[in-house]
Amino acid sequence: MTKRVLSGVQPTGVLHLGNWLGAIRNWVDLQKTHETFFCVVDLHAITVGHNPNDLKENTLSTAALYVACGIDPKLSTIFVQSHVSAHSELCWLLNCVTPLNWMERMIQFKEKAIKQGDNVSIGLLDYPVLMAADILLYQSDLVPVGEDQKQHLELARDIAQQRINNRFNIKGNDSILKIPKALIMKEGAKIMSLQDGRKKMSKSDPNEGSRIGLLDAPELITKKIKRAKTDSLLGLEFDNPDRPEANNLLTLYTILSGTNKESAALECKEIGWGKFKNLLTEACISKIEPIQKKYNQLIKDPDQLNFILEEGRTKAEEVAESTLKKVKDAFGLLEIN
Ligand code: TRP
Repeated sequence: MTKRVLSGVQPTGVLHLGNWLGAIRNWVDLQKTHETFFCVVDLHAITVGHNPNDLKENTLSTAALYVACGIDPKLSTIFVQSHVSAHSELCWLLNCVTPLNWMERMIQFKEKAIKQGDNVSIGLLDYPVLMAADILLYQSDLVPVGEDQKQHLELARDIAQQRINNRFNIKGNDSILKIPKALIMKEGAKIMSLQDGRKKMSKSDPNEGSRIGLLDAPELITKKIKRAKTDSLLGLEFDNPDRPEANNLLTLYTILSGTNKESAALECKEIGWGKFKNLLTEACISKIEPIQKKYNQLIKDPDQLNFILEEGRTKAEEVAESTLKKVKDAFGLLEIN
């Protein structure tokens, strides 16, 4: 049986190099060998304050970038989370069996809550349960995520096993929900900030210069790489704990230029930062340009994008509704025919 994969990104801003190289690039490979579902998780994006106009635009641009990066609507199901109401419905059912103290220990919640001051929504606390619903609805085998999402995946597994399958599978036959596994990508799984090699490249970093947006113009990319943090040593190298920037930029270069670690390390061993940055800029622009071209075509043709999302919704809904029905039935919710 082909294994099923589900993943998603929040439409909180333009996707950047970290999203592409760390996540979407791997999805492109997975769609050839797996049954793949990729969603734009707009309901997650509203758990912290948001602007309605931006949300619409970002949802559409995120979906367009999935396609521009090589997610093929013929191979993958591409959809918007809020278009499939089963996500919210399963989330409620899972809420009712998930202990509050499991939620209060979520690291990302604690970090985000601090930033929100006294304006923390219940939605922010519930974020991981909605994510569990996303995953479990599709009976996913594998969930490609970054290191920072491992705890959320653990939670999804615990809810499915301990709170649903163990408790409600009274008939003892096949389990209600599939227990998913995290798929943590190795090389390039974590692209770091251009301004701090110890911090992950992130859409929420207030410093624009810390990331390269997939829609940044070539001049802007050049400028950002020029200003990227360096150190005072000559030559680039991997895995020196005292040189996180060298490691990050060399990793970027390796992936973008399509070579391997050994040859990149050899090529850049004695090179000066200035010269290296030129190489990196060139590699980056030449890889991003085709994505931008495809993106611009798509965004000019809303019918095509709408068609992709409509078709995605239909395919996603079919799977999601069947799981939701199973869980409702297990919970004893009355059904009339
Ligand atoms: N929380 C994930 C992130 O920030 C996004 C996400 C939401 C997700 N639902 C998901 C990822 C389901 C994988 C599967 O990266």
